[in-house]
Amino acid sequence: MKLYFIAAEAAPFIKVGGLGDVIGSLPKALKEEGAEARVVLPLYKSIDREKYSLRYVKYIFVNLGWRHTYCGIFEAEVDGIKFYFIDNEYYFGRDATYGEYDDAERFAFFSKAALEILPHVDYRPDVINANDWHAALSIVYLDYFKSCGSQYFANTKTLLSIHNIEFQGQFDPLTLGSLFGLENKYYDALIYKGTLNLLKGAIQLADRVNTVSETYAHEILTPTYSYGLDSILNIEKGKLYGIVNGIDVEKFNSKIDPLIVKNFDVKTLNFKKDNKLAFQKELGLEVNENIPMIGMVTRLTHQKGIDLVLHVADEILNTGAQLVVLGTGASAYEDALRAIEARRPDRARALIMFSNEVSSKVYSSCDMLLMPSKTEPCGLSQLISMRYATIPVVHSVGGLKDTVEAYNPKTKKGRGFTFQSYNAHDMLGAVERAVDLFYKHKGDWKQLMSNAITYDVSWKKSAKKYMEIFNSLI
Ligand code: GLC
Repeated sequence: MKLYFIAAEAAPFIKVGGLGDVIGSLPKALKEEGAEARVVLPLYKSIDREKYSLRYVKYIFVNLGWRHTYCGIFEAEVDGIKFYFIDNEYYFGRDATYGEYDDAERFAFFSKAALEILPHVDYRPDVINANDWHAALSIVYLDYFKSCGSQYFANTKTLLSIHNIEFQGQFDPLTLGSLFGLENKYYDALIYKGTLNLLKGAIQLADRVNTVSETYAHEILTPTYSYGLDSILNIEKGKLYGIVNGIDVEKFNSKIDPLIVKNFDVKTLNFKKDNKLAFQKELGLEVNENIPMIGMVTRLTHQKGIDLVLHVADEILNTGAQLVVLGTGASAYEDALRAIEARRPDRARALIMFSNEVSSKVYSSCDMLLMPSKTEPCGLSQLISMRYATIPVVHSVGGLKDTVEAYNPKTKKGRGFTFQSYNAHDMLGAVERAVDLFYKHKGDWKQLMSNAITYDVSWKKSAKKYMEIFNSLI
């Protein structure tokens, strides 16, 4: 089984969000299931060519509308997985990954080039996995190549993976011919509510569609979660699957992680506190293992539930807990978090930055990880935190619902604390329950830590589900 992942991000080369983690780890898990998986990325300026030993392969030209455009092909290998890179300095030699005025053109070029390089590197995939809107057009171009009689792609099938339906790639209808170089027959597939919608077109043309948790696969069939695409998804739901993400359990491993102060595992949970004491000291907070420490590692966007935290920040701190928020994003949220730190320097820290090193400190040191996302396709922070026996406190939606079972003090089962409605005081209630158990029931808390750290967050089960989809296609 030959697989080809087309995506705008993959760790360790380029990572803006969870997509990068997934594309950096799922191919390895599929390799263990016996598949060959290769990945293609844009060669962004920020990708370190020396560090990852990128090799130049050759160049081709890609036609896009009236443009005849240079496309360099580079390759590299990480952990036995081959990565290809599409080089074009005009499109990708910039500081930003996304959010450029010409993203439609940049990612149309990428999506088309990703397919056109394949005969030149002599790789003929059985299934192409296009991720999010940035790669959605590759499914449309594949359809176009097939309709023109391409022998090379005659048997190639497609899976579209939706990591977040909020981002659909919506552009002016005039771009269809002028930028994308697509014939009018694709107008019907791509047009939606007056704009060209790349994700919508790919949903219709893909052989299979999946999203990153079972619950989210159900949620996006409803208007509350679909950002307008529920009617399309309901038509196509026969080919829609939900498969929860895993994480790289070698990388996120409290037993051997070199970035943390003191390693620990399920048998040595009491060592975890050394991480907390060191982090409290580093942050200038009161150094005391009996003070509950609540962490957040998050993009500061409306999706992540920052509004709820801001609304009841004082009440959270009044439980006696310390609150440490790590992330960057909307400046209004950044400023509001800084203001909380300024008001409560004894208890709150706003770490407005993006840092793997600091995030591993938050994961390993805190007692709880707060994740009140309004919507969450899967969420990776709660999976990482559990690997460090840090207890998730989450809004029960999407992947959070599928991975964080609420702790039941009677049966001693479950791994975290949950709240059902997107409401600041319901969230506060969950935080208070967590803090209360932490203060008053040390034995139960330890049980909870042990339940969390032993929960299987690897790709194993999910990789098998992906393989079932791939096998059903060929
Ligand atoms: C997006 C989603 C997140 C998911 C990640 C990887 O970032 O918002 O929930 O875990 O993609 O699939």
